[in-house]
Amino acid sequence: MVATKTTKKTAKKTVKNGQKKPVIGFIGQGWIGKNYAGDFEKRGFETIRFALEEPYRQNESKIKEADIVFIAVPTPTTIEGFDDSIARGVLKHVGNGKTAVVKSTLKPGTTHSFQKQYPDIFVMHSPEFLSRGTAAYDASHPLQNIIGIPVDNEEYRTRAERLLSILPEAPSIIVPAQTAEFFKYVHNTSLFARSIYMNLLYDIAQELDVDWTHIKEMIIRDPMIAFQDPVIAKWHIEPAHSSGRGIGGDCHIKDFETFSRLFAENVGDEHGMKLIDAMKNMNIELLLGSKKDLDLLSGVYGKDILKRKSKAKKSVKKNVRKTAKKAVRHVRK
Ligand SMILES: NC(=O)c1ccc[n+]([C@@H]2O[C@H](COP(=O)([O-])OP(=O)(O)OC[C@H]3O[C@@H](n4cnc5c(N)ncnc54)[C@H](O)[C@@H]3O)[C@@H](O)[C@H]2O)c1
Repeated sequence: MVATKTTKKTAKKTVKNGQKKPVIGFIGQGWIGKNYAGDFEKRGFETIRFALEEPYRQNESKIKEADIVFIAVPTPTTIEGFDDSIARGVLKHVGNGKTAVVKSTLKPGTTHSFQKQYPDIFVMHSPEFLSRGTAAYDASHPLQNIIGIPVDNEEYRTRAERLLSILPEAPSIIVPAQTAEFFKYVHNTSLFARSIYMNLLYDIAQELDVDWTHIKEMIIRDPMIAFQDPVIAKWHIEPAHSSGRGIGGDCHIKDFETFSRLFAENVGDEHGMKLIDAMKNMNIELLLGSKKDLDLLSGVYGKDILKRKSKAKKSVKKNVRKTAKKAVRHVRK
């Protein structure tokens, strides 16, 4: 399949040129679901929201009326591996002949398997990149719209184009479903790797008595190693992020574990495996050392992981305070 790039201009006309605005359904009203629904409502779309929370619970059967249904429910990774059961199960609520767009993160191959199980609906995958702190803004201003289709024919392409025509304006692309699924892991594990690498550099900096605030400033100015966006440039440079060291949050721990399994299943190269294991274990130690996201850690690796002794370098707070003081001294000189 050849990727198709689309611009919003043609798409917008299609909606204006007489086509009835589709009714948009949402299954899941968490970070993604509620912010996407809010964005569609602001833009004048009729929506139907269904989730386990009230008052959305009662809309279970109403979802069938929606023309396009966005699905944003949990897809955890546990000690048993990637678990698509919630997303797979809720697809039964989508009406025959309608389009289901899975926003939940999916292990490559899952959309195909969903489509096979539900031949009466059209399943697509659109990976999501929003951050919790800026979720509403991100839902209305996506970096890009990626639509993954499991079958490359006119029907799916027309539906994918129609989907793009109602999404917020952004560079857009239609690709095979597996490509869209894999890209989400490219995105998340790249940030994971950056964060781990910055932690390694930070540990050396501490030993050499090099002030990390200065290093950070120089990284941000360096176009060869920092993203060229004033906000994004700062991401994943600070070793202590939110409550401590290590890369946590709902997505990173579980997605890195699925990535590790994907590598083992598909490539399995010895050095690659050792590198991935080392990154994974280093992050586990950093998280244990700073007591950060321990619930998420045990959700992915099981409760025994919490018994592991952390050999991670010193407490973060102590390090951060030490660097902060140094920065002040430097300015005063
Ligand atoms: N939160 C993020 O920053 C983010 C970013 C990108 C991707 N993702 C991915 O998107 C997916 C959803 O994430 P989220 O943070 O929006 O989830 P969330 O945990 O905030 O919300 C989940 C929603 O799903 C609903 N739900 C669960 N089981 C259900 C069922 N059986 N029937 C109907 N509704 C059900 C819950 O009621 C809730 O409203 C996950 O795969 C996640 O990895 C999340």
